Amino acid sequence: MGIIVCTADLFSEHVERLASAGHEVRRSNEATLDSLKPLLADADAIICLLTHTINRQLLDAAPHVRVIANVAVGYENIDVPSAKERGIIVTNTPDVLTESTADHTFALLLAAARRIPEADAATRNGEFPPWRLQQPLTGTDVHGKTLGIVGMGRIGAAVARRGHHGFGMPILYRSRTRKPDLENELGAQPVSFEDLLAESDFVSVHVPSTSETHHLFHAGTFAQMRPSAILINVARGTIIDEAALVQALRNQTIAGAGLDVFEHEPRIHPELLALHDRVVLAPHLGSATVETRTAMGDMAVSNVLAVLEGNPPLTPVI
Ligand code: DGY
Repeated sequence: MGIIVCTADLFSEHVERLASAGHEVRRSNEATLDSLKPLLADADAIICLLTHTINRQLLDAAPHVRVIANVAVGYENIDVPSAKERGIIVTNTPDVLTESTADHTFALLLAAARRIPEADAATRNGEFPPWRLQQPLTGTDVHGKTLGIVGMGRIGAAVARRGHHGFGMPILYRSRTRKPDLENELGAQPVSFEDLLAESDFVSVHVPSTSETHHLFHAGTFAQMRPSAILINVARGTIIDEAALVQALRNQTIAGAGLDVFEHEPRIHPELLALHDRVVLAPHLGSATVETRTAMGDMAVSNVLAVLEGNPPLTPVI
């Protein structure tokens, strides 16, 4: 049967599924060309993570590979045109992570608005000031505030639903295509990017990382936002010019940020790390629940099994 090179740290049940279908699973903790070259020479499939670069050189070292299953919805780590040239199918894991990523978006939004990490740190530090109307660490309301969604795909829509149904938030959105269903269901209003920036109290980013979205948020963009606005990014770090964001937060051009992804991940702009007021950071945890990560692994395994059995993949990216 097939040989599957797996750089993803799949759960044991996933590996058992592949093995019980008769395949050999070669696991590697590293995803460098040197470490993978000997494993790939006769391999039929690769299962990898979004942090693993699958480029032309690596594809050259894998002449028999028929399918690459990325255990992520984003797939900018894979040279898809080069894979396509070689007749290799590339798959991702859409849908299964939508709801948990939307939950995480709201966790960051609420944490930044209500200053939860600052409050937690202060409380542990023995700071329990007397209850007063103008208490330190007073935050800002979320309910009823305007939520601007940049990129109304699956995750953007799931965030918009939480905002509308859970918090009574008016929804503005900017997307490549109109979403009449969401306009009906949520009263979501399509607006220009400029209007979204000017009118939103919370701006949540849900576009993929492409050359068009690179630094979509830069100094000029921040200048168009409300000084009270909070920016949330669970999509990709490259969408925000991190140095410009630091300046915007320092100068109070905007009020705060909730960030799960970073421009030069895993490195984070040192000045961003030093900002605590209304700035909440997480190390790329959008889909990080046991249930969702299990489902992502399941989907990657199903894609590989389908292709190796001669069936169409469940979720090809092209
Ligand atoms: C993805 O799947 O692209 C996400 O970033 C994982 O959390």
